[in-house]
Amino acid sequence: MALLEVENLRTYFETEAGLARAVDGVSFSVDKGEVLGIVGESGSGKSVTSLSIMRLVPQPPGRIMPGSRILFQGRDLLGVSEAEMRHVRGNDIAMIFQEPMTSLNPVYPVGDQIAEAIRYHRGVGKREARARAVELLRQVGIPDPERRAADYPHQLSGGMRQRVMIAMAISCEPDLLIADEPTTALDVTIQAQILDLLAELRERLGMAMILITHDLGVVAQVCDRVVVMYAGQVVEEASVDDLFREPRHPYTEGLLKAIPRLGKPVERLAVIPGTVPSPTAWPVSCRFHPRCPYGWDLCVEAAPELFPAGEDRAAGVGGVSGGALVSGEGRGSAAVRTSRCWLERHPERREEVRRRTGAFEASRTGYAEAPAERWHAASAAEHAAPEPERAPPEAPARPLMGDPDTEEDVRR
Ligand SMILES: Nc1ncnc2c1ncn2[C@@H]1O[C@H](COP(=O)(O)OP(=O)(O)OP(=O)(O)O)[C@@H](O)[C@H]1O
Ligand code: SF4
Ligand SMILES: [Mg+2]
Repeated sequence: MALLEVENLRTYFETEAGLARAVDGVSFSVDKGEVLGIVGESGSGKSVTSLSIMRLVPQPPGRIMPGSRILFQGRDLLGVSEAEMRHVRGNDIAMIFQEPMTSLNPVYPVGDQIAEAIRYHRGVGKREARARAVELLRQVGIPDPERRAADYPHQLSGGMRQRVMIAMAISCEPDLLIADEPTTALDVTIQAQILDLLAELRERLGMAMILITHDLGVVAQVCDRVVVMYAGQVVEEASVDDLFREPRHPYTEGLLKAIPRLGKPVERLAVIPGTVPSPTAWPVSCRFHPRCPYGWDLCVEAAPELFPAGEDRAAGVGGVSGGALVSGEGRGSAAVRTSRCWLERHPERREEVRRRTGAFEASRTGYAEAPAERWHAASAAEHAAPEPERAPPEAPARPLMGDPDTEEDVRR
């Protein structure tokens, strides 16, 4: 049994602009001792996913929708009382945030804050908690921890504060640590040190981790497996090795092409055109279609499922049922690769577009005129409503882009 299983998680917010479907049917699992990366651009729903696991989504305006399940060691956290949940937070699952100053209390010395957390969760005496706090500061690499324990948060550098947060998070030896962009606010050298620390703690304590980041370099350094999120959904899941060797989803491909590679000169890095759409108006069918260089009519006619991808596709492993991934027989979640993209069903389209344009490397002139865009604009009014399920058409229709070769293409 996986340590954590998130099943069909949907977290919506009531906003002035309408219902924001920030997290919309997300499923993944984390095994004991495993490090899972969650990547995606800003606004893809990474933080809302982690806050939902901790049941820290502000309600209202937020709401975790019926049918969502968050199984931790087999128990659905969405069904437990608030008192039980307080016990889970800290004892079983701990979380560290991007900006430690928002989580540390500015008017107490850091040693006292860690000791307080230990006393609260472990029920030990003051003196013992204090000694353990100093020991934890030592473990996370803070020099002269006895003296530093008396410092207030503002007396520490950003990197030191993040180490204090990590010390607090691991103080009760959680089974799962969720780190939401733990290094984004730090400079590159300190970033590397904090990542090394997390990797070392994972080895030493055997704890599982969810590492949320928009930086694929961080994923490569620390994670075993990756979930790529786009527009509130999981669009690809793979082992880190597989993902970097052969990204299957066009969005992942775009993210990877946007990273500079050492020793590989390029004229300019590819960027994914456009921005993440608003969660109150996700594009219909494939939510990536307005930005996708591979898209064709099928992508706006029917929403792709999370299909088995790459070698899994060839082997006919796995499948999807009601939005939740069903593993192939005898295979753990770690072995399954999936991609929410019609290219898994129509691989010839991938080859054809690459031959013609080089995908993200090509310029996207005239893209705004693509029929998918017009279709999207025309159906904007329907976006707030859940999309109807439709049977996928059999074969790919006309391409969206490319060299116009008929009168009709020119008009398009
Ligand atoms: N309290 C809230 N009220 C309304 N909308 C919210 C609220 N919290 C988050 N959202 C919306 O949910 C969407 C997903 O946000 P989320 O913070 O999960 O993104 P993210 O992937 O973590 O991005 P980033 O990389 O910037 O941290 C965003 O569009 C955001 O505006
Ligand atoms: S389904 Fe179509 S538009 Fe969506 S990512 Fe795949 S090729 Fe692109
Ligand atoms: Mg975030």
